[in-house]
Amino acid sequence: MSSSANENKVEQRRIADGEQPRMTLDDNAIEAAKKNIDRGAVTPHAGPWAQEIVKLLNDSLATELVCVLRYKRHHYTATGLKSPAIAEEFMVHANDEAAHADRIAERIVQLGGEPDFSPDTLTQRSHADYNDAKDLKSMIRANLIAERVAVEVYSQLIEMIGDKDSTTRRLLEDILADEQEHADELADWLED
Ligand SMILES: [Fe+2]
Ligand SMILES: [Fe+2]
Repeated sequence: MSSSANENKVEQRRIADGEQPRMTLDDNAIEAAKKNIDRGAVTPHAGPWAQEIVKLLNDSLATELVCVLRYKRHHYTATGLKSPAIAEEFMVHANDEAAHADRIAERIVQLGGEPDFSPDTLTQRSHADYNDAKDLKSMIRANLIAERVAVEVYSQLIEMIGDKDSTTRRLLEDILADEQEHADELADWLED
């Protein structure tokens, strides 16, 4: 008998003996979920964390928006021998960051929060910096630094959120994979 089949048998015997199963659902939380319907997708499980997660997501939203602006600036101003291919890639990254911003804003609303698109506080809230370097190498360097900041922040957020909100965690895992790809590409160009 495989070990999992064996564990199953033990479990069935435990329950048959009238013991309390260890994996039980929280009935009170399920009842509460039937009530506060004005909270939309936010049920008691994520409830205690929703507000703090919204605050963290809003800082990441600001970061993504600043990254869009930095990549667009670089796309339109990159000059030099290797610039056409790299400038094109800057635009690809700008579009990726814009898509990240959209997904984060959507999740903020699902969590009952308000996405903060205010341009007044964008750079203060962003983890990564805007940059208007003139030469290609400085642009690549600035973008690589920003991507490394994003990779570090998303990694920390994923660990922090853990099983408190699995939908947000999966979203951030998706975005993290993109940021790692961006950083990898930029690092390759810096070596050329
Ligand atoms: Fe991004
Ligand atoms: Fe990125």
